[in-house]
Amino acid sequence: MKINFEVAKSIVDIFPSDLLEHSYNVCYLSTRLAAHLGYKNEKLQNLAIGALLHDIGKTRIGQEVLNKPGRLTDEEFAFVKKHTVIGSDLIRCFRNHQSILPVVLYHHERWDGNGYDRLKENEIPEPAQIVTIADAFDAMTTNRPYQKTKSLVETLHELNKNKGLQFSPTLVERFESCIIENTKGIHPFTSDFPFVKVLKRQVTPVWKKATKNIPVKEKPK
Ligand SMILES: [Fe+2]
Repeated sequence: MKINFEVAKSIVDIFPSDLLEHSYNVCYLSTRLAAHLGYKNEKLQNLAIGALLHDIGKTRIGQEVLNKPGRLTDEEFAFVKKHTVIGSDLIRCFRNHQSILPVVLYHHERWDGNGYDRLKENEIPEPAQIVTIADAFDAMTTNRPYQKTKSLVETLHELNKNKGLQFSPTLVERFESCIIENTKGIHPFTSDFPFVKVLKRQVTPVWKKATKNIPVKEKPK
């Protein structure tokens, strides 16, 4: 069987609700950034599918660990870190899994080489670098048991602080201009702003719109 956007959506739709929302948000944000970078057609669609399924491996990790309010033990943390490899094993059943594998496997790499698999800078496939930024943005702007939601200003500050450490410096800059472009007049540095909430409330209709024009190109048999 081949994975396409519709199949990916049907998989995500049975995720637990917080993972489902996170997956859609990351897909939406990654797709917007990728389109801003000039991704089109099949390349954009593969990015969207990979982003939607980036955390599929977490479906094999207990909710009590994922939502634990306190610090994870070393053992629990080591298990959570395995979600990239578990996820890559889960998608191998799709004939065309290679097109989304880099995102699932490498979205926890860091620009400075201190991520899960210690790839660094442009050794990390670009789609995975994109999803890393979208993932961090959504994590910081979401209320989680172990952290308070950050405002847009705080989140962009945090992304900038980690340019060249966790994130590609160029992609953080492009992401920031993409976010500013999409605020349509609400300047994130001058208003502490309803944008993240607006984005989240609208995320379902907006990501549908953002991904609706991605053509599904079936290769001739
Ligand atoms: Fe992840």
